[in-house]
Amino acid sequence: MHLVTTTAPLSISVAGLDDLSAIEPAWWRLLNHQQTLDDRGSSAELRSQTNADRVRRFLESRVRQGRLLIARLEGELVGMCTFSPDGFILDSSTQVWEIADVWIEPHVRRRGFATALVRECEHECKMRGADEVRLTVYALNDAAVGLYQRLGYTITSHTLSRCLDFDE
Ligand SMILES: CC(C)(COP(=O)(O)OP(=O)(O)OC[C@H]1O[C@@H](n2cnc3c(N)ncnc32)[C@H](O)[C@@H]1OP(=O)(O)O)[C@@H](O)C(=O)NCCC(=O)NCCS
Repeated sequence: MHLVTTTAPLSISVAGLDDLSAIEPAWWRLLNHQQTLDDRGSSAELRSQTNADRVRRFLESRVRQGRLLIARLEGELVGMCTFSPDGFILDSSTQVWEIADVWIEPHVRRRGFATALVRECEHECKMRGADEVRLTVYALNDAAVGLYQRLGYTITSHTLSRCLDFDE
């Protein structure tokens, strides 16, 4: 385990393979939460064996790349987030990294833990060459919008959606 920071009582570290068993259930809680904001797939479909394997592979690859941060409180995993280089196809003088999958367990929210985790994640991105970070948030996710506004993030794009129901 590579410990990044300890802001008592929270310790934030780059996740190791030993952490995967604690990360995976937290990941499903994050996905279930996202489902309340994005209606693609039912919970039953989400939890198919194919998706379970896909999630496991994704998490393991993020961990092997050293791109998954976890937050522990007295040993218990209470938060996580991932970070990766933005997939912009052209060469650019600006190195943009993306922060995603920010999750804090409900029973420890509003204690500044997401703030600490995202700040550490920004630091990790910077250490890897980023000079800018971006992230995507659902418009209806008031908590996350509030968090990122407070952290100084500004809106750079809107994702538009239209339901293609031609029967109406
Ligand atoms: C969004 C989330 C990560 C915030 O975690 P947290 O540890 O409670 O956040 P913090 O305590 O650091 O909050 C910092 C600020 O964000 C804002 N904020 C946090 N939760 C909020 C809420 N429910 N409503 C409005 N603003 C909120 C506030 O400005 C807060 O400061 P304050 O507590 O002094 O008012 C957490 O609610 C969560 O995991 N939600 C589900 C997953 C999710 O939405 N992830 C984001 C995906 S983009």
